[in-house]
Amino acid sequence: MGVLPPLPFCEFDLGGSDGIIDSAAILKEGKALQTEAVDCRWFIRAPPKGRVYLRFLEYEMHNSNECKRNFVAVYDGSSSVEHLKNKFCSTVANDVMLVTSVGVIRMWADQGSRKSRFRILFTTFLEPPCEAEAFFCHSNMCINTSLVCNGIQNCVYPWDENNCKGPFVAPALRKVCLPYVPATTAQVENVLKVLQARSGSLVDIGSGDGRIVIAAAKKGFRAVGFELNPWLVWYSRYRAWKAGVHHSTSFHISDLWKVSFNQYSNVVIFGVPQMMDKLEGKLQTELQSTAKVVACRFPFPTWAPDGTAGEGIDTVWVYDAESFKTERGTHQRHFVTPHQPLGNDDTTTSY
Ligand SMILES: C[S@@+](CC[C@H](N)C(=O)[O-])C[C@H]1O[C@@H](n2cnc3c(N)ncnc32)[C@H](O)[C@@H]1O
Repeated sequence: MGVLPPLPFCEFDLGGSDGIIDSAAILKEGKALQTEAVDCRWFIRAPPKGRVYLRFLEYEMHNSNECKRNFVAVYDGSSSVEHLKNKFCSTVANDVMLVTSVGVIRMWADQGSRKSRFRILFTTFLEPPCEAEAFFCHSNMCINTSLVCNGIQNCVYPWDENNCKGPFVAPALRKVCLPYVPATTAQVENVLKVLQARSGSLVDIGSGDGRIVIAAAKKGFRAVGFELNPWLVWYSRYRAWKAGVHHSTSFHISDLWKVSFNQYSNVVIFGVPQMMDKLEGKLQTELQSTAKVVACRFPFPTWAPDGTAGEGIDTVWVYDAESFKTERGTHQRHFVTPHQPLGNDDTTTSY
């Protein structure tokens, strides 16, 4: 019996927001000949505290169910010996969510199994709460915003590829969309703070999971949400019912550009910069001069705010319709958030 030839050295290092792990790279990058047995490893590294989600795009074992001849194994951790999470050698392979920041994919194929192949999309992510530049996937993932509306589903469910052709998309930036990014707790508090002297009707334009509408209803507003995504509308109705405010809330599956907001005295929007100019024109035409408008995270481009609350990504701006309808508004008040010290200069108003 002759000695078996040594296996070719076959390792790959991958990182970044996402990428493809492809068994075809073995041949393409000259790691082994098509006739040689291989034992290859792909190391995927997420940023510190990050994790890795693996979605199989293609998978086929030439000698399926013969695990000694060919398999694809996933390791959750840097050791491709100790940290085995899944081993696939039958006809199907499932998506895998790793709990550590390093994953290893290992492919073993003997000489007669070199037609075995796979392609995996990896996405690195952080756990919520998501930072300003991250996109919340609904499931427990915050992914890089560059992955939104790029034609590749990186989230477990396709939230990152939904609403990509809607009117939130500026014509020149068709790849930009307004994703579902829920308001932070501080943001919701800031909205309520700048509206605390107000009452009556309130509308949240693009109401997401209904958190602003529900919080406003708890403060006594008759609160309404318009939202394009029916799942979010159904979920909002359920949340409102659970919170005991279903009598003072309503949610509509509607496109914001097809709805008139003229009947609302308090209007809230958490949009994207690309849409604020057009929305400014729409609200200026539609609203009564007694209305107030609150913009979350991104201000309106030409209106002068009447006041602000919060800081950083939680900042909200409040606008007085009387001012923007007559172009008279220029003064600003500052709404002090609880964690800020109360100033005693007369431009600061504590609510
Ligand atoms: C940034 S999220 C804000 C969600 C919610 N207002 C909050 O603050 O938690 C924007 C929401 O607008 C929705 N949306 C996108 N395009 C829309 C449209 N044309 N009409 C109505 N809603 C839309 C999205 O589905 C998403 O839920």
